[in-house]
Amino acid sequence: MKTNKVIIGCDHAGYYLKLQVIEHLKEKGVEYVDVGTNSAESCHYPDFAHAVCVKVQNGEAPVGILICGTGIGMSMAANKHRGIRAACCSDTFSARLTREHNDANVPCFGERVIGEGLAMELVDAFLDAEFMGGKHATRVDMFMAYENDR
Ligand code: RB5
Repeated sequence: MKTNKVIIGCDHAGYYLKLQVIEHLKEKGVEYVDVGTNSAESCHYPDFAHAVCVKVQNGEAPVGILICGTGIGMSMAANKHRGIRAACCSDTFSARLTREHNDANVPCFGERVIGEGLAMELVDAFLDAEFMGGKHATRVDMFMAYENDR
């Protein structure tokens, strides 16, 4: 099933792109919950990665979207959360494939890396894709099992 609800968050370096992504979600008819930040004032991206991931872990939405300057810090912070598979994407092929093959549930974008037009295509590529399962599920299960080895 295509994604129809997301939790979205950003830091100060992703704030303006987040506003644009939210407008795009509204146009697509995708429901969203915005956990902040709510301005371009400097803040700490792990706080917002955590806020998004906890809501995804709790089942409030199947997908979270995180935006910072590069998308990298957000993806690193998000991937420390059990059950979260975050992927920093800046091309549409990867954005689609990380959903189809890796069952990614938190795409991360960098406002300082990509432009608005590309960002919307990445959002569409991810949200309109579906996990393919099968051999890909076997592989996802293999690496998710690492979480239980701690
Ligand atoms: C903030 O300056 C910047 O470090 C942050 O948005 C992000 O790019 C970190 O990965």
